[in-house]
Amino acid sequence: MAAAEFINLVRGWPSTTLLPTEHLSRAAQKALADPSIAFPGMLYGPDEGYCPLRETLGLWLTSFYRPEKPISKERITITGGASQNLGCLLQVFTDPAYTRDVLFAAPAYMLAFRIFEDNGFAGKMKAVPEDDDGMDMCALRKVLEESERRTPEQQLSKPSRPYSKYYRHVIYCVPTFSNPSSRSMPLERRIELVKLAREFDALVVSDDVYDFLQWPSDSNIPTGITKALWPRIVDIDRFLDGGAERSGADGFGNATSSGSFSKICGPGIRVGWSEGSAKFAYGVSQAGTSCSGGAPSQLTSTYMNILVKEGTLSTHIFEILQPAYAARYKTLMSAIERYLCPLGVKLPQSRRNVVGGYFLWLTLPNSINADSFAERCQSEARVIVAPGSIFEIPGDSSVKFDHSIRLTFSWVDKDLMVEGVKRISGVLESCLRGEGPIAIRKQDDKDEKPF
Ligand SMILES: Cc1ncc(COP(=O)(O)O)c(C=O)c1O
Repeated sequence: MAAAEFINLVRGWPSTTLLPTEHLSRAAQKALADPSIAFPGMLYGPDEGYCPLRETLGLWLTSFYRPEKPISKERITITGGASQNLGCLLQVFTDPAYTRDVLFAAPAYMLAFRIFEDNGFAGKMKAVPEDDDGMDMCALRKVLEESERRTPEQQLSKPSRPYSKYYRHVIYCVPTFSNPSSRSMPLERRIELVKLAREFDALVVSDDVYDFLQWPSDSNIPTGITKALWPRIVDIDRFLDGGAERSGADGFGNATSSGSFSKICGPGIRVGWSEGSAKFAYGVSQAGTSCSGGAPSQLTSTYMNILVKEGTLSTHIFEILQPAYAARYKTLMSAIERYLCPLGVKLPQSRRNVVGGYFLWLTLPNSINADSFAERCQSEARVIVAPGSIFEIPGDSSVKFDHSIRLTFSWVDKDLMVEGVKRISGVLESCLRGEGPIAIRKQDDKDEKPF
């Protein structure tokens, strides 16, 4: 008997069926055939990144986020994606001797932890719990106050530089369709967050990589939402009470938005953008690696400029991705409601009119430990699910997710998703009955990289 197919409900990658390879191929040919694009594309680029893409992004982001004033290229630095950008931000704007801590909305995107550790923040990462509206602001204030009380003033270990400043705290969050909880922060919460960041000299790093992937939760309402649901935190910081560049402020601001083409085009493209005040965006571009190597992803930036400028990417997002992910979301949701909810599984996030992202966050019955449950799903049912513990903040056990799991609807096809949920329900039934392992077939291979 052939082994049942492994079903990976962990991997937060776009389905290969949704990659716009033909569009990209056409854009690449166009860029490479034109020396005025190809030569700058193939040489070292300016530190801030490929200028035409910065301009195009300014217009494109303005049309999606609709801030009070247009977004100029001076606010944007091109990055190698949100992960690479996070590394740069920490190199330029934090000093682990001086910056007291990093505060995460918990549960948090687990692959960010190592980026913080690599930049000297091991042991300085703290959890701030979420409620249905994302990061809890009372808890955040408490953690910040506690940190200010407890941590002695430290000298800088890095040189001071004219293009940067070192913040006292970093607050990391995914405020829209979060990974992993899929929660979103409403406007009032975003405003509170900016006010707190200003009060405590914190930098809010807002990972805005899922903002474009949104659709009505009611599948009878058509998809194709071309305007962002909420202003980004960086937009609020730009305009609130005189904005980041108000008189008396240092002009760097207290928030930055990290955008990426990974989820809306393809992660292999490795192009993203960092937005903040003009002073902040310039600082990002001054990371040593960019000054030596030029902005990352210079050649692929020329391709992305064509795709965005010609409107191809917008069409792909609004006409292909949104309906496709909406259908996938609906399939996974229906399977969960049908096979898991009757067994006591809960979807903690209250259902909003508009939902999005790549993930669903589930709570198992209290008697079920998510780590051993995930292990049993993998070894007995050949389904890979992410247990809540991997999204806990390393070194801070104050916020635990012993009974949570995350499922992804972006990667596997709909039939497999349903099959995966059925298999999960089989394991759950067996756990609830207190039985030992169920056997679909003994595991004899491993999925190479689950995330
Ligand atoms: C919240 C979040 N940030 C960043 C990334 C990675 O983004 P990039 O590919 O642009 O580095 C992911 C990918 O899963 C993510 O979920």
